[in-house]
Amino acid sequence: MSTERILIIGSNGQIGLELAENLRKSYGSENVICSDVRKLDNQIAPFETLDILDQTKLHEIVKKYNITQVYLLAALLSATAEKNPKFAWDLNMNGLFHVLDLAKEGIIKKIYWPSSIAVFGPTTPRQNTPQYTVMEPNTIYGISKQAGERYCEYYHQKYGVDVRSIRYPGLIGWKSAPGGGTTDYAVHIYHEALKNKSYECFLSAETALPMMYMPDAIRATIELMEAPAEQVKIRSSYNLGGISFNPEEIAASIRKYIPGFTISYKPDFRQAIADSWPQSINDSEARNHWGWKPEFDLDGMTKEMLDNLKADYQ
Ligand code: NAD
Ligand code: SER
Repeated sequence: MSTERILIIGSNGQIGLELAENLRKSYGSENVICSDVRKLDNQIAPFETLDILDQTKLHEIVKKYNITQVYLLAALLSATAEKNPKFAWDLNMNGLFHVLDLAKEGIIKKIYWPSSIAVFGPTTPRQNTPQYTVMEPNTIYGISKQAGERYCEYYHQKYGVDVRSIRYPGLIGWKSAPGGGTTDYAVHIYHEALKNKSYECFLSAETALPMMYMPDAIRATIELMEAPAEQVKIRSSYNLGGISFNPEEIAASIRKYIPGFTISYKPDFRQAIADSWPQSINDSEARNHWGWKPEFDLDGMTKEMLDNLKADYQ
C-alpha cells in the first residue's frame, strides 16, 4: 500500500490530466488528490477547487489529506503570459513559493515543478543546447521559469528541500488540449488534419523546436520523482530531449498517413518567441544521472496521435 499522498495543483490542464491518470494507476486513486482553479463537469474525485495563490486554502488541503508530495503544474504558458505579464509573474512565482515553503517548513517531503526550454534565449546556442550554457530568456514566461529554477536550487541547498524539475520541450498528446503555449501548433495540426485535411500554422515552415510525445514526458516525470535522491544531482532543472522538427517536417509525417494534407503559414507574435528558443536539446545529464531515454520518434508519435484522434472526426 502506498505511503505517499500526492497533491496535483493545476490537474485539469494538458499535463495534469494525463499525469493524474498515470499516478492514480501507480499509487491508487485515493492517494492522488487533484486540484485546479476550475472544476470539470466530469471531474473525478478526490478533487479540491484550489487557487494556488490562496496559501491558507493550500495549507488546509495539505493537512486534510496528509499530503507528502506536490506536483505544481498551475502556471501561465508562454503565449498567454505575454498578454498578461504582471499576472504571469505573480502566478508563476508566488505559486512556486507557496509550495517551496510547505517543504521548507517540513509539512511536505517532495516537490515536482516543471521548467521549460523557455529558460533559454536568443543568445543561447540553438543546436544541441547543453544543460549549462548562456541563458538570457526574453519572454516573461522564460524569465519566470529561470527565476523559479534558481529558487528551487536555492531551497534545496539552503533548506534541504527535495525539489525535482524537468525543462520540458513542447508537449504533444491526444488526451488533453494544450493551454496557451508557442508549441501548441504541433497538437492543433493533428486535429485539423483529420477535420479539414489542411492547417494554417502560426509559425513559419522552417521553425524547428524541441518537442516530446506526452507518454514520454509523463514517464520522465515519474521516473525523476521516483529516482533515489542521490541520483538527482541537478536541483534547478534537467534538460530533456525528445524529438526536434519544424512545421514542414510534421506536415510531411502526417502526409504519410493522410495523403493530400496541406499546410500554409501565417506567423504571428508567437514566431518571435519560438525564434528565441533552442531547436534541439542535449540531455546527457538526465540520461547519465537517472537513466532517461525517450521512446517515440516523429512518425511513431504521428501514428499514435492520428489513430487515437480519428474517432473524434468520423
Ligand atoms: P495548462 O495551461 O494546460 O494547465 C494549467 C492548469 O493550471 C489549468 O488546468 C488551469 O486551470 C490551472 N490553473 C491556472 N491558474 C491556476 C491557479 N491560480 N490555481 C490553480 N490552478 C490553476 O498547462 P500545462 O501544459 O499542463 O503545463 C503545466 C506546467 O508545465 C506549467 O508549469 C508549464 O509551464 C509547464 N510546461 C508545459 C509545457 C507544455 O508543452 N505543455 C512545456 C514546458 C513546460
Ligand atoms: N510548450 C510550452 C510553451 O510553448 C513550452 O514551455 O509555452
